[in-house]
Amino acid sequence: MPDESRVHDAKAARRGRAADAVPSLTVRRAVPADLEQVAAMRLALLQEEADNPLFANPHPGAAGRALRLTRRQLATPGQVFFVAAHGDRLVGMLRCRAARRTPLVVDAHQAVVTTAYVVPSGRRRGVLRALVHAAEQWCRANGLAGMRLQCALGNAGGRSAWESLGFEPAEVLYIRAVAGA
Ligand SMILES: CC(C)(COP(=O)(O)OP(=O)(O)OC[C@H]1O[C@@H](n2cnc3c(N)ncnc32)[C@H](O)[C@@H]1OP(=O)(O)O)[C@@H](O)C(=O)NCCC(=O)NCCS
Repeated sequence: MPDESRVHDAKAARRGRAADAVPSLTVRRAVPADLEQVAAMRLALLQEEADNPLFANPHPGAAGRALRLTRRQLATPGQVFFVAAHGDRLVGMLRCRAARRTPLVVDAHQAVVTTAYVVPSGRRRGVLRALVHAAEQWCRANGLAGMRLQCALGNAGGRSAWESLGFEPAEVLYIRAVAGA
């Protein structure tokens, strides 16, 4: 029988590993000059999410909308876009915004993590791990005691990645079409 405390310690140690797995990788806050690369990654993420019913029907103007949405978000306080870069080339991104759950519970302030994406050629090298590490530091600096995110049930790779990084499934999002609407 495995020693549960050692298994837990090993998992915690892996979660705590920072960007040093990829020596040339830089993780930093996105700046306005990153706009086009971030918007392009958003569109690539949208394509990869095609099997997710929440993202299955891209808007014909998605390219222009991605630019405008990103520009607006980069200028909005209370949130942050982290990007991972090799030199000038962005290879990943992750967005965090502060949100309040019900005031009826303690630790109600959390970070909502969205827009997590790593370019296919950069995967399985610790890029998401480094982005989550940066997000965790941002949470601490902003007094946020937890992080939450949504991931499609069918996104096996995404779910494995989040669970490797210490996230646990907590609830299921149900959706349903409205007849005649
Ligand atoms: C999910 C995604 C962001 C992971 O990025 P990544 O940089 O490859 O992840 P990392 O290399 O930092 O891996 C972090 C941990 O997750 C695990 N992991 C990552 N991808 C995995 C996969 N496809 N299957 C199983 N485990 C995976 C890694 O093994 C690692 O754990 P370990 O160090 O304990 O072994 C990337 O695959 C991606 O962009 N996918 C398409 C978009 C997407 O699904 N985004 C998330 C939407 S919720």
